[in-house]
Amino acid sequence: MSIISTDIQKAVHLLTNEELVAIPTETVYGLAGNIYSEKAVKRIFSTKKRPFFNPLIVHIASAKALQTMTTHIPEKAKLLADAFWPGSMTLVLKKNEKIPDMITAGKDTVAIRVPNHPVTLELLKQLPFPLAAPSANPFGSISPTKPEHVESYFKNDILQVLDGGACSNGIESTIIGFEKETPVIFRLGALALEDIEAVVGSVSIKNKKEESPDAPGMLARHYAPSTQTLLVDDVASEAKKHSTKKVGVLVFKESLNNSSLTEIILSDNGSMHEAASKLYDSLHELDHQKLDIIIAERLPNNGLGKSMNDRLQRATFTI
Ligand code: TXA
Ligand code: MG
Repeated sequence: MSIISTDIQKAVHLLTNEELVAIPTETVYGLAGNIYSEKAVKRIFSTKKRPFFNPLIVHIASAKALQTMTTHIPEKAKLLADAFWPGSMTLVLKKNEKIPDMITAGKDTVAIRVPNHPVTLELLKQLPFPLAAPSANPFGSISPTKPEHVESYFKNDILQVLDGGACSNGIESTIIGFEKETPVIFRLGALALEDIEAVVGSVSIKNKKEESPDAPGMLARHYAPSTQTLLVDDVASEAKKHSTKKVGVLVFKESLNNSSLTEIILSDNGSMHEAASKLYDSLHELDHQKLDIIIAERLPNNGLGKSMNDRLQRATFTI
């Protein structure tokens, strides 16, 4: 029997009993557990095979809960929370003693987000505790944007994927931390840099491990299909070099019109939002086609294109 179900009461029951439930958000599906249950949090790490040094994001129903978890909220964090929550932004703030060390991997900061998905907002409102939820994929593999993706990863490990349909944004939240009072981007994501800068002015990006030991999840290789994948500017000429192989191509908006290739177009009309929402699903689909190689086209490097290029770089070999 499928573990996918829309039953919110079942999710409440399981989570209250320290079990894990995969939950829908507008970015990607999360593998959720009670932040105060050591048993549940340990199982999140073991189910994902995630190293303990990589901290988790805490999901809350409304920004009001921020005060109960942090020791200080910078002015610009308040502005950002007002502007973008519920939404695809995670804030990293100084934690207080109530947040268990396992959630934050021993760090003195905690990552917090109010997701913008009606099903999960309803679930969070019914629970007396927040949910820790990393993306619901084994460590290093492609993040899930449909309940079926989670089911194929974890059907033997968890009892429910709470069905909220396909994720509307399709890539992870943008993570913003603070150096003193100044916002710094730790991870590019579903909220575009330009939108953030419109609220708080120009911000720096420190999303490489060398630049930011504070963002331990930003490994160089991540989000990867199991098929060899390349990221290039000119997909047509790269495909020619592999003409003896079974080739899959992932292009932004224009078809290569080559019937010997398995092709997915992210957005016919060039919408970055549509492209982002389809990015991981397309990688999942190509990865299941028994291809020899996947060739992905680099996106225009602005708006959500910048976030998508970041993910593709980590998922692929850039040439
Ligand atoms: O959209 C999302 O953010 C999804 C959905 C489920 O909410 N969650 C997600 O979680 O992407 P995860 O665990 O795959 O990525 C969380 C990232 C990791 O790179 C981790 O290192 C970073 O957040 N992070 C968590 N706590 C942090 C902290 N205190 N300081 C710096 N980075 C932190
Ligand atoms: Mg992840």
